[in-house]
Amino acid sequence: MIEEIKHSIKSCLEKYYLDNYQVETNIIVEEPKNPAMGDIAVPAFSLLKTLKRPLSDLVSEIKEVLAKNFPIIKEINPTGPFVNILLNKEEVAVEVLQQAVSLKDKFGSSQIGKDKTVVLDYSSPNIAKAFSVGHLRSTMIGNSLKLILQKCGYKTVSINYLGDWGTQFGKMIVAIEKWGNLAEIAKDPINELGKLYVRINDEEKNDPQIAELSREAFKKIEDGDPKYVEMWKWIREESLKESSEIYKLLNVDFDSYNGEAFYNDKMTPVVNELEEKGLLVEDQGAKIVNLGDDLPPALIKRSDGGTLYITRDLAAVFWRKKEYNFDKALYVVGGEQKLHFTQLKGVLNKMGHADLASSIEHINFGLVLKDGKKMSTRKGNVVKLYDILMQAIEASKAQIEEKNPNLENKEEIARKVGVSAVVFNDLKNFRALDYEFDINQMVKFDGLTGPYLQYTSVRINSILNSIQFDSNQLEQSLFIKAHYFEIVKQLASFKSVVERAADEYAPSVIAKYLLTLAQSFNKFYSLEKINVEDQLVKNTNCTLAYAVRLTINEGLRLLGIEYVDKM
Ligand code: ARG
Repeated sequence: MIEEIKHSIKSCLEKYYLDNYQVETNIIVEEPKNPAMGDIAVPAFSLLKTLKRPLSDLVSEIKEVLAKNFPIIKEINPTGPFVNILLNKEEVAVEVLQQAVSLKDKFGSSQIGKDKTVVLDYSSPNIAKAFSVGHLRSTMIGNSLKLILQKCGYKTVSINYLGDWGTQFGKMIVAIEKWGNLAEIAKDPINELGKLYVRINDEEKNDPQIAELSREAFKKIEDGDPKYVEMWKWIREESLKESSEIYKLLNVDFDSYNGEAFYNDKMTPVVNELEEKGLLVEDQGAKIVNLGDDLPPALIKRSDGGTLYITRDLAAVFWRKKEYNFDKALYVVGGEQKLHFTQLKGVLNKMGHADLASSIEHINFGLVLKDGKKMSTRKGNVVKLYDILMQAIEASKAQIEEKNPNLENKEEIARKVGVSAVVFNDLKNFRALDYEFDINQMVKFDGLTGPYLQYTSVRINSILNSIQFDSNQLEQSLFIKAHYFEIVKQLASFKSVVERAADEYAPSVIAKYLLTLAQSFNKFYSLEKINVEDQLVKNTNCTLAYAVRLTINEGLRLLGIEYVDKM
């Protein structure tokens, strides 16, 4: 709402100068750092150069134009080169609260993405290998971006591009044939397969034959050998079950699970096009595309004819373009793959598909650290992601036991709170930054955490539960008070916050906003009693609290976090 007012002030003044002076201007409209100066300010000095008139002239002219066009403005106070504007806070507040109350979970929605489709490629674990911490980050960031983009009116397609193709399957099969007992494995496939995979990687170091055998075994899968294809399918299914457990806990799903294997028979046209365009160069038996002096060449075909990661990604991007006709394709993948995506775009550009190349965006993210070192699911310093989530759930349960031992549905609530701790902690800082993983910090109800937000929402819920109030009868004079209007302003900016998160592909924008909103509310609550005698004041306080809860819940949803009613 304030954003909208700022916008209309800008266009009104720009139109005025165009109509009356035939000049194009770029009017700046900002919010003063110090709210006592005003709610909105227009610095007039930026116009000096374009209009070449005395500053005082410009200031009084702007004042006049605004006073005439904006009844919502209560006062205009020029201070030096600034035109400071005080809004009619009562009117703004009533409008914002009414919007929130009537729109409910549609509050903050927009249509900036109308008729546009975004394809999101995220999670994408490598089957038969461990589901890594990086894949967990990709899952949470991708899921949140999907929800944020949907909120802005985009059509989304979420794709789990499973790493279900490659020599690791040959390796698995060799390991099973060497040491495995199918009946044993079937009892606990994920663990047994995991152990076999670790063992063969160890033995490979001393036995160069293993690599060769694995390649041969994978070649058999590629060539369609029924027995090997059967084994590949089985390993794929079993590993997917492990990922599904994590997806279930996180409440995440996908529109498509077309992984790398899906593109095995779809690469020929791309390779042919590269060939026809004269881009494919022979290099020691392999086929490469040269990408100039600044980038290493892209390896498209190995000397044994096998294709590579980038070849499959090329096939995939063409297939998806045809299938979904997307406007943007986001790849939520760790920063280590920067080169891969630069090369992918590089090859597309060379092929003459500049539009397609520019619609690709690598949504990179940083590392998760444990005691300053990269946290790995393989090295044994933390065993399994599922266990991490379970630990967070346990820690939340302990907090609940301490604070609210008689709570019903403890298990279910502890799950939501524990998962929220991990997810919020991941999303609260800009994704490209590394962060330190500390379970005890992230579950705290009183830190900058997911549980803190849930707790604030629950607190409001329990206050409002016992009170009757009417959001149409408000004591408007209260909105002049700073701690009231602060919250109104924050609520008013929810929509532009969501839009910015979509624009920057940054869930952290919403996470930070929610922390500020919750803090403002908790401060408000320390100053005001909600359930007071005076019915109008009560209505006002309750409506404000109600709108805050609704916004926190909706913001949490956009981060992929479920809110709770009690905790
Ligand atoms: N499976 C890959 C990995 O774990 C990530 C895939 C990312 N998506 C893509 N289209 N390349 O490294």
